[in-house]
Amino acid sequence: MSERPDHAVPGAPAAADWLALREAADAEARAVDLVEELRAGHPAPGRILDLGAGTGSMARWLAPRLGGPQHWVLADRDAALLGHVADTLPAVARDGSPVTAETRELDVTTLTAADLAGPDFHTGLVTASALLDLLTVEEIDAIAAACVGAGCAALLTLSVVGSVRIDPGEPRDLAFATAFDAHQQRTVDGRTLLGPHAAAVAEEAFARHGAAVRSRSSPWHLGLDDVDLVVAWLQGWVAAAAAQDPDLTRHADAYLERRLEAAEQGRLRVTVGHLDLLALP
Ligand SMILES: C[S@@+](CC[C@H](N)C(=O)[O-])C[C@H]1O[C@@H](n2cnc3c(N)ncnc32)[C@H](O)[C@@H]1O
Repeated sequence: MSERPDHAVPGAPAAADWLALREAADAEARAVDLVEELRAGHPAPGRILDLGAGTGSMARWLAPRLGGPQHWVLADRDAALLGHVADTLPAVARDGSPVTAETRELDVTTLTAADLAGPDFHTGLVTASALLDLLTVEEIDAIAAACVGAGCAALLTLSVVGSVRIDPGEPRDLAFATAFDAHQQRTVDGRTLLGPHAAAVAEEAFARHGAAVRSRSSPWHLGLDDVDLVVAWLQGWVAAAAAQDPDLTRHADAYLERRLEAAEQGRLRVTVGHLDLLALP
């Protein structure tokens, strides 16, 4: 394979420029009707914990869609990404109430109900965006148990579901898609990641712990207006697939070159499936 961007290196941390590149497509894709249901069932969450917050994309999108005073705790294990959050969040909520925020270095796999509610604080809402596929069955179960145990709602958006359509199609698309999905489910340091199964596992876990769960499809529909994102996404997708399946490595450069040429000429449309989940206690 030729040189790859940071986000394309399998197992590499997310890069701030990759998160910036995808932010508008993420905002367009998230299911707004789940936010309406959240507002109806849980009008003013107050304190909100965003898991795997990165540079704060979820808070920038959601804070102006919720009412009441909000205090966001943006949690990530990557302090460098959190360093980009400063002063990028809206100052006011949907109804003009103040929005404040802090960042916190936290490994979300250690989350417990005690992190969500204590003698002098209560978290009303836990959010995440593009995170669940990086977790294991046990870790998602622990997050569900913590949220429900603390009486906390959860809005978990943009979990990949393993459906990718590239138009026009090519015979090799399926092999790359299959290898990419397998790569997402690899075992890293003894942790077997859920990849495209994460949303279904989360749905089941929150329901089993007693939450009312709703889900909505939230795909990216990328086309002529998203050439830079399509190019970066293709580079990462092909690199991960080739890292997973050595048989694909010898085809990867030529396949990527053809796909990038089509993307740069505005001839490629890409649909990437995601699921959003709302769990109400
Ligand atoms: C694909 S990025 C999404 C970032 C952000 N939510 C967004 O939508 O732009 C995944 C984020 O999860 C964070 N992350 C992954 N595993 C984590 C863990 N165990 N604890 C805390 N953060 C984690 C990464 O550092 C990264 O910021």
